[in-house]
Amino acid sequence: MSILVTGGAGYIGSHTCVQLLNAGYDVIVVDNLINSCEESLTRVKELTGKDLKFYMTSLLDSRNIEAIFANESIDAVIHFAGLKAVGESVYQPLEYYHNNITGTLVLLDAMRKSSCRNIVFSSSATVYGEPEFVPITEKCPLKPPTNPYGRTKAMLEQILTDLHTSDPAWNIMLLRYFNPIGAHESGRIGEDPRGIPNNLLPYITQVAVGRLISLGVFGNDYDTPDGTCIRDYIHVVDLANGHLKALDRMMTDSPAVRVYNLGTGTGYSVLDVISAFEKANGLKINYVIKDRRPGDIPVCYADPSKARDELGWTAERNIEDMCRDAWNWQKNNPEGYGDR
Ligand code: NAD
Ligand code: UFG
Repeated sequence: MSILVTGGAGYIGSHTCVQLLNAGYDVIVVDNLINSCEESLTRVKELTGKDLKFYMTSLLDSRNIEAIFANESIDAVIHFAGLKAVGESVYQPLEYYHNNITGTLVLLDAMRKSSCRNIVFSSSATVYGEPEFVPITEKCPLKPPTNPYGRTKAMLEQILTDLHTSDPAWNIMLLRYFNPIGAHESGRIGEDPRGIPNNLLPYITQVAVGRLISLGVFGNDYDTPDGTCIRDYIHVVDLANGHLKALDRMMTDSPAVRVYNLGTGTGYSVLDVISAFEKANGLKINYVIKDRRPGDIPVCYADPSKARDELGWTAERNIEDMCRDAWNWQKNNPEGYGDR
């Protein structure tokens, strides 16, 4: 079976390509490398001992995307490609809406023309906003996201649902990720953010490796046991495996729109993560308490039982595994892939 992976050179995409190739799928990657580099794909091939096809193009280039669907026989698409920096999206809304929404519309139109109607979409827990209850089930009411990035996820969930309504042959998986961290256990692929990281784990690993002086902990006066925010951190390899389970289910069941939370079900505070990282790796992380970061919600963690019951998927790796693998990647690749 042949799977087109958009954004396959990126963080989650590259880990998913490894799991797909190891499971015997043929993989075709489309990526314009706006937030990644081809070296990740070289390492995916090296890790698996298998080849994949790579088209370096933007999804916005409809002629290229249609040509790929015309030339290849594609059974399903896993759609990771998109811009994802929450803060940046506030300052560059047009770029975010154009890239994420128009890019997806071009992809869906090319899929429709070639009669490929199976798609797994990267959504996010951001669609729950400040959740009405935790742990968050898929029935938790959706809230209007607070930034353009989040709005692209909510809009794309709606667009995909509308598409299924218009043509029930569309088979759609909406996967709502919680907080992916960690790296492949080999330390050959991992998260390689451009510039100063926005997210917690890459910030911690860059402090550990000496690229940054100290971590700012954004607020310790939340209504949580230690005052810092709680999140559901999930190992990126577990997350990648969730995509394979979703694909299995999608390809063997009747077309529908299906929604799953991909998280572990356990929440950790920022201070818990710092301690877990220190313990797993025998290191000390310098940190200072700073003001709250605007837009942060106090507590967010999943009830992942629907994915367990319907997909047969559960996260297997714990917070120590995540911290160990994140550090293994960073210490072996202090400059990431070294392309920027
Ligand atoms: P990433 O930036 O590492 O990967 C995204 C990839 O898409 C990059 O390789 C980038 O070059 C590519 N891309 C972007 N726009 C493109 C375009 N127009 N045409 C072709 N390629 C394009 O991000 P990631 O962390 O791997 O995230 C993958 C997906 O998961 C994204 O849609 C993201 O919004 C979603 N997501 C991520 C997180 C997270 O915390 N990492 C959480 C929830 C959801
Ligand atoms: N944090 C710090 N210091 C930092 C970075 C983060 O204290 O330098 C804290 C944040 O305040 C938050 C926690 O660490 O409490 C996690 O923050 P991240 O930025 O790593 O992750 P978020 O939960 O804010 O956001 C992530 C993704 C978004 C997605 C969201 C909801 O980055 O794309 O989860 O799914 F929208």
